[in-house]
Amino acid sequence: MFTKNEIIEILKDDSKSEWLFSLADKTREENVGDEVHLRGLVEFSNICKCNCKYCGLRKDNENADRYRILKDEIIETVKHASEMGYKTIVLQSGEDAYYSEDKMIDIIKAIKEYDVALTLSIGERSYEEYKAFKNAGADRYLIRIETTDRNLYGQMHPNMDFDNRLRCLKDLKDLGYEVGTGCLVGLPNQTVESLADDIMFFKEIEADMVGIGPFIPHLQTPLKDAQKGNFTLALKVMALTRIILPDINIPATTAMETINPNGRIIALQSGANVVMPNITSLKYRAKYEIYPDKICINDNPDKCRSCIGAKIKSIGRTVATNYGFSHNQG
Ligand code: 5AD
Ligand code: SF4
Ligand code: FES
Repeated sequence: MFTKNEIIEILKDDSKSEWLFSLADKTREENVGDEVHLRGLVEFSNICKCNCKYCGLRKDNENADRYRILKDEIIETVKHASEMGYKTIVLQSGEDAYYSEDKMIDIIKAIKEYDVALTLSIGERSYEEYKAFKNAGADRYLIRIETTDRNLYGQMHPNMDFDNRLRCLKDLKDLGYEVGTGCLVGLPNQTVESLADDIMFFKEIEADMVGIGPFIPHLQTPLKDAQKGNFTLALKVMALTRIILPDINIPATTAMETINPNGRIIALQSGANVVMPNITSLKYRAKYEIYPDKICINDNPDKCRSCIGAKIKSIGRTVATNYGFSHNQG
């Protein structure tokens, strides 16, 4: 285990990167094996009441072409994904109050008619709502802390409350969800010290899944002129997370591939064991523009499934056929 100071040194020193990536790859192999878990991602609404400074879906972006996918069409998507062999569905959206507790319960129950594990990624909700979603059949929940630097969190998230974010993570754990969190790498004013704190935080809250991606500036946001995150630094944060939390699930994120054409494969060889291919219908994809130049916006779900399957095979890994709960239980 590394101390915070050692983590900071490793993050600062790029001469140690190759050593770090090999150690993370070995740690991944010894603890979670060679299987790669695929999670089919449905981006079902790009409407959001939040105003995160970095995100293209922020409320104040009037250029975003907003959409909602309703229950029947979500179920069509899930049915097709399940036929393609997906064992986990991830429902992701902006913070869209249209999807009330009752509407979500209805959707969750309908999805759980299929043979899939279900992850929600729909933002901050009350304990009661999280409880109701769990009772309806949701298995996992993703909510990134984004940064553990309170000051930076405040700058990036107008009218949001860091403590409520922490409350959400705690409630989800208490309710028995598998909890996924993560951070952005390369936000303006972010320090390597705070990235080290992020990694320690993942350990402290016993995250089951941690997603890490570089910040990518979006032209219709206040951060349009900011510098984009560095691929190697994001990969190093991810690799350190693998070494410090050996048996969790770590996705090779879409943002990694957006700033490096081979980013997901490189991530899979530096500690990652999960990929989240997009299964959203082609007609909505370009509109879920959290950052520009997102991959796969002109590809359909079948294309992504075969594309990623081939890439995984090409590096001698296999696509898992189980649900891929964390700590390798089934
Ligand atoms: N660059 C990279 N990642 C982003 N996200 C939102 N906006 C951006 C951006 N501009 C990430 C956030 C959020 C996830 C769904 O997408 O970390 O949690
Ligand atoms: Fe909304 Fe999420 Fe984008 Fe923030 S990051 S504006 S919560 S979609
Ligand atoms: Fe979508 Fe490769 S994963 S085209």
